Amino acid sequence: MTKCLYIETVGCQMNLLDSELVVASLRHRGYKLVDRAIKADVILFNTCSVREHAEEKIYSALGRLKYIKRQNPQKIIGVLGCMAQNHQNNVFQRAPYVDLVVGPGQLHQIPDLLDEVSKGPPQRLEVSLDRKGFAKTEIEQSFETYDPLRTPEMRSSPHQAFVRIQIGCDKFCTYCIVPKVRGPEQCRSPQAILAEARQLASEGCREITLLGQTVNSYRYQRGATTTRLSDLLLHLSDIDGIERLKFVTSHPCDMTDDLLQVVGSLRKCSHYLHIPAQSGSNDILKRMKRGYTVEQYREMLSRIRQYIPDATITSDFIVGYSGETEADFVLTKELVEECRFKNSFIFKYSERPGTKGALHHVDDVSEPVKKQRNNELLDIQNTISYEDNQLRIGRQYEVLVEGPSKNADKHNLPGSLVQLTGRTMWDHIVVFEGDRRLIGQILPVTIYEANAFTLFGEVKTEHVGPEVYQLSS
Ligand code: SAH
Ligand code: SF4
Ligand code: F3S
Repeated sequence: MTKCLYIETVGCQMNLLDSELVVASLRHRGYKLVDRAIKADVILFNTCSVREHAEEKIYSALGRLKYIKRQNPQKIIGVLGCMAQNHQNNVFQRAPYVDLVVGPGQLHQIPDLLDEVSKGPPQRLEVSLDRKGFAKTEIEQSFETYDPLRTPEMRSSPHQAFVRIQIGCDKFCTYCIVPKVRGPEQCRSPQAILAEARQLASEGCREITLLGQTVNSYRYQRGATTTRLSDLLLHLSDIDGIERLKFVTSHPCDMTDDLLQVVGSLRKCSHYLHIPAQSGSNDILKRMKRGYTVEQYREMLSRIRQYIPDATITSDFIVGYSGETEADFVLTKELVEECRFKNSFIFKYSERPGTKGALHHVDDVSEPVKKQRNNELLDIQNTISYEDNQLRIGRQYEVLVEGPSKNADKHNLPGSLVQLTGRTMWDHIVVFEGDRRLIGQILPVTIYEANAFTLFGEVKTEHVGPEVYQLSS
């Protein structure tokens, strides 16, 4: 009998990719994806530990399943990903009816683990080694990259795909849990990445987004040959069918000239860079152990402008980190005003047990102050995003059509017309009306309206002149 699978995913693109791959592997085993936990035989949560709130949301969702599990003990509940690695057995303590806890390094085992737990207890815990107390290679091996080849119908979009080029992180910013839960930085071989990209292209994929926590530090050494991200982009851009290349997330310290030169010169490279600054205060950056000063960040931005004059840049900021004074926050506001990011993701500092920050830096900025700073910075950023987007009105962009927009159902359009969404080469979201069959195409769209987050446009329909008509008749 077909088993039904429900999966809920929180966190970053790494998690979205992991979930996609887990779902694909389970579909191969005959599982069918359903849209509600109540209908499912197997309920999975792919979790994030980056802020406390992300973890609490999962425990609340698990809490809501307690009664369902009591009524239907044969249902299987699994907690996967970063929180599984972070909390390990504690997940069972807080939610004893969970059957399976699987870290990001053990996702390949999920189909077999589900078969095992479906036969009854015991519960199963599969996680990687802690980063302390074991040999480096042992730790690395315990965080296995999970990148099975996918089939097109199992991807969330046939025209776009994430491709992992690096796992883990070795930067150890003091606030961050990622190095603990995702393990040491390890890069996939260029051969494996290119094989995956070629396969994706042959299946009709047009856009590839390379993923890594500090993706621009990608480096793969074999013998005398070192492959950097710039080399990888050059190879990837030779693949027929692939039209767009992006990569996230970049670290300011690894934004080297060779990379900027390649991004600026390759037709297929998106001129969009996500390079979190985190703070505009040198004192705070130092406490965060980010490894750069505000002056160095600015210098990096000016190098980007030199190589890629039209680049759009986005950033992340943490407000209310331990010791952040009003004066520090003013410096952050000034940086945001000066850099005119396309947009910024702004987070209130959330202390993460197990990080250097939790050990050495008191979480001393009150919640109301964090909230206030968050709102203030968001207002500044939103004004900039709005102003920037206004300047785009009247311009025409090549848009890769991604699919129906979030509000497509609310717009009752005639025939096969639907409200569509897509992105420009600079990563602007564009909404416009068009035929469903346009999904996956790259089209010229003229912008007529804009808010801080979205550009609204019209597809420029090709004029079919008589000579074209004669040619085809
Ligand atoms: N690898 C990326 C980011 C990973 S986490 C990088 O180096 O930039 C995504 C974002 O979450 C971070 O950029 C940071 O802004 C935020 N973040 C990480 N830990 C946090 C914490 N403890 N509290 C609040 N925000 C946090
Ligand atoms: Fe976290 Fe810093 Fe690594 Fe980014 S670079 S994942 S913020 S430790
Ligand atoms: Fe969260 Fe893990 Fe990504 S902690 S941000 S899902 S790497």
